[in-house]
Amino acid sequence: METLLLKPSEDNTAIRKAAELLRQGGIVAIPTETVYGLAANALDEGAVNRIFKAKGRPQDNPLIVHICEFDEIYPLVRKVPPAAKALAETFWPGPLTLVLPRSDKIPNNVSAGLDTVAVRMPSHPVAWAIIKESGLPLAAPSANISGFPSPTAAQHVQDDMTGRIDAIVDGGECEVGVESTVLSLTGEVPVLLRPGGVTLAQLESVLGRVEVNEAVLNPLKEGETAASPGMRHKHYAPKAEITVIKGSASQIAEYVAAHTGNDLAVLCFEGDEHLFTLPTVTFGRENDAFSQARGLFGALRRLDELGAKQVFACCPSQEGVGLAVCNRLFRAAEFRIIEIR
Ligand code: TXA
Ligand code: MG
Repeated sequence: METLLLKPSEDNTAIRKAAELLRQGGIVAIPTETVYGLAANALDEGAVNRIFKAKGRPQDNPLIVHICEFDEIYPLVRKVPPAAKALAETFWPGPLTLVLPRSDKIPNNVSAGLDTVAVRMPSHPVAWAIIKESGLPLAAPSANISGFPSPTAAQHVQDDMTGRIDAIVDGGECEVGVESTVLSLTGEVPVLLRPGGVTLAQLESVLGRVEVNEAVLNPLKEGETAASPGMRHKHYAPKAEITVIKGSASQIAEYVAAHTGNDLAVLCFEGDEHLFTLPTVTFGRENDAFSQARGLFGALRRLDELGAKQVFACCPSQEGVGLAVCNRLFRAAEFRIIEIR
């Protein structure tokens, strides 16, 4: 299959072409403010199936449906609780996904057989314009091969998806860099299923109490069912084996200095490179979680390009957007975490 590369321009040709492909049942990678998404008509079960095939995504992992106006939520869900309206007023368009009871319009594969559907309104102008122009709700998981780090630049999508999808719309680098916050509004108390660009404190400022699902920072226990099916699967993982090290940069440098070998590398903060003799890749500044979020997935891909087999990673703070950075990094490391005291 030929994969078109579309660059948005002033005359909107790329947006019209992407929308046309989507209306014909095609699958198109589009930029969003979080990560690139692989979009299809959310109401077309066949088109959605092509997403699962192209990504090699397990059938039991449901997709997020993307809309561009609040009212488009009504046909997709059975109930819009007041909390959903309040959150949308504050955070939409933006990196927040709401899980609600699904309507019977939602194909089974979109919600992976669950009784709920995840909905979000992206703020990226290109994503927004493509949804608008297509006139469709768009189902879109991250546009990576399943299990690989999410794509935050069109080049990452090209590396994973060329020949597997109809088109890629190049919207530059993603501003947030980690996927949206996923919040379930299906129970008595709202539950944070996946931390992202909208922080826990921001959610609490609107909702009061928010529960944080255990799996946000801990591995699932043997036999435990996941509140969000995505938690079950191996995620964000580069080919290298990552170990996260908690401690100061100099403590970590001392620990790492005891290791030598050809295939070792360090994932550290900008400005700390000089502490290490091994090759380094950076992911943002130590006291700036936003820069870490923007840099993490690209850094994981660069480690693979270096051919690193074993990586020592400095551990970010869990404050604010840092919770999302830790969630992704801990999963990429399959929860290999060492604490230096
Ligand atoms: O920022 C984002 O959310 C990006 C961009 C493209 O919008 N999309 C994204 O999609 O990250 P994906 O498929 O890579 O991650 C969706 C997550 C998965 O962990 C999935 O299990 C969860 O959301 N999810 C989707 N529908 C759900 C539902 N009905 N109940 C619980 N979790 C759900
Ligand atoms: Mg994903």
